[in-house]
Amino acid sequence: MFRAPVRADVDLRLLEERHAATVFALVDREREYLREWLPWVDATQSEDDVSTFIRSELEKFASNNGFAAGLWRQGQFAGVIGTHKIDWMNRKVEFGYWLGRSYQGTGLMTDACRAVVTHLLIEMNLNRAEIHCAVDNTKSCAIPRRLGFTLEGQIREGELLNGRYHDLLLFGMLQRDWKVQG
Ligand SMILES: CC(C)(COP(=O)(O)OP(=O)(O)OC[C@H]1O[C@@H](n2cnc3c(N)ncnc32)[C@H](O)[C@@H]1OP(=O)(O)O)[C@@H](O)C(=O)NCCC(=O)NCCS
Repeated sequence: MFRAPVRADVDLRLLEERHAATVFALVDREREYLREWLPWVDATQSEDDVSTFIRSELEKFASNNGFAAGLWRQGQFAGVIGTHKIDWMNRKVEFGYWLGRSYQGTGLMTDACRAVVTHLLIEMNLNRAEIHCAVDNTKSCAIPRRLGFTLEGQIREGELLNGRYHDLLLFGMLQRDWKVQG
């Protein structure tokens, strides 16, 4: 099972189907805040929708093509970090993340992303990790900046959110530039 320590009281664990109710409860409670930047929120209307998502992520993990991990602080579910399908031909992957609103503002996600980048670039030996964030999503863009990612470009109208196209910033980190931080 994928598991990565983040802080003394925080860890990342592979999402399993038994977590569906917990994940759905947070998404449902935080729906208005999350839907501003996450295109899948409106389509997530039940625990079953979350189960379907987790099942497909577990299949992805089993075939060595990526994963979705839950972030747990003091045993409480706080959010998710997940990769897209790994591009093994080019040894690269994009990943994304979200946190419950009340878990923001303490560097939790920055620390979790640091652990995930180390897992991807060092343990999995990928060459490149990418983060794509809407230009106006300043909190999200701050994470790759904090971790030393390079801003490599802007993807015009790369995401359709609530009926409006948003430009995305493309941030990248190469294995040779990643310094494992304590
Ligand atoms: C994007 C998102 C995860 C960012 O959350 P966040 O709490 O800002 O990120 P972190 O957990 O890394 O915390 C950073 C904040 O904690 C502060 N902080 C405190 N201690 C810190 C530490 N030790 N290290 C880093 N930051 C610290 C930072 O100053 C920053 O606060 P600020 O924005 O007021 O300056 C969150 O806003 C979210 O889930 N939004 C909705 C979904 C979303 O947009 N997902 C991304 C789509 S691309």
